[in-house]
Amino acid sequence: AQTLTVLGLESSCDDTGAAVVRQSGQSAPEILSNVVIGQAELHAAFGGVVPELAARAHAEKIDIAVQQALDGAGLPLSGVDLIAVTAGPGLIGGVLSGVMCAKGLAAGSGLPLVGVNHLAGHALTPRLTDGLGFPYLMLLVSGGHCQFLSVEGVDRFTRLGGTIDDAPGEAFDKVARLLGLAQPGGPSVEAAARGGDPARFAFPRPLLDRPGCDLSFSGLKTAVLRARDGLVSAQGGLRTADVADLCAGFQDAVSDVLAEKTRRALSACSSRPAALAVAGGVAANGVLRARLAQVAQAVGTGFCAPPLKLCTDNAAMIAFAGLEAYRAGHRDGMDLSARPRWPL
Ligand code: KG4
Ligand code: ZN
Repeated sequence: AQTLTVLGLESSCDDTGAAVVRQSGQSAPEILSNVVIGQAELHAAFGGVVPELAARAHAEKIDIAVQQALDGAGLPLSGVDLIAVTAGPGLIGGVLSGVMCAKGLAAGSGLPLVGVNHLAGHALTPRLTDGLGFPYLMLLVSGGHCQFLSVEGVDRFTRLGGTIDDAPGEAFDKVARLLGLAQPGGPSVEAAARGGDPARFAFPRPLLDRPGCDLSFSGLKTAVLRARDGLVSAQGGLRTADVADLCAGFQDAVSDVLAEKTRRALSACSSRPAALAVAGGVAANGVLRARLAQVAQAVGTGFCAPPLKLCTDNAAMIAFAGLEAYRAGHRDGMDLSARPRWPL
């Protein structure tokens, strides 16, 4: 296989990304640059991503991100072989910014264009970082996503289950808000949980009694709210130790259900998975990671947790997924459309 150098663009949520990834033949892919321009401070006051603000910021920043990525790789646009862009799913205004920018670059340079499914970008990341072979099980856990994917090929994904309500990152963020902790909630809940007693509150393990790999997190968040309100009315407020115990109990419940459903998903895979891989911001959680590593070990499979920068939204994963799709024969034209919804 020839050497391919790919420029990737990502703008589906609240990070504007551009990256250059190169793969020579069958050798390990190299990330030549990976630029992420975040929007956290833009949305901070609103307690969540505001789609209109996100779209405008993507439109303003995408060209800058592209230029920085090319500069970082030390290449002009003509030094690239392919342009890959997230074409969905995501917030449509942002996805449109990326797709329009990519089309403009492709039209101006004559380079081929490939539209990438954002979820495929996450799902193929373990191949970029660890050269993982097919098939493997991917647990995608972020602020917006929660699903089990059996990854069988570049374009072959089987969804084995996922959340029926909130994503786990969303639940971490809401729990942080309930307890007056900083956003994003995941890291602050994890920090607050250190030294807490996970057994003090009997939080539910939603859907564990139901067969299959579906998950639910909204009831867990409500249980934390009730426990908080109970403490506040009984003692007039929350003590530091209460917050620690609430966080530890919540984190333990999330990790428990994810671990058990992962065990089921591993046994539901049609052929024996080469590894259990994780992606998404929630995969940064130490308690969850340890629990998942145990599950993988118990069934005798590997555990692959890519570096955090590549687990969260980034354009290197889009460049690499575009490269894999291109090698598999995918091409898109100027009729490539931005899709708010796009199941794998
Ligand atoms: O993948 P990501 O950066 O963005 C998308 O959602 O697309 O994930 C962000 C989510 C947030 O909800 C954040 O609270 C959560 O990942 N998160 C964590 C941790 N670090 C980030 N959740 C639990 N524990 C963490 N250490
Ligand atoms: Zn994502």
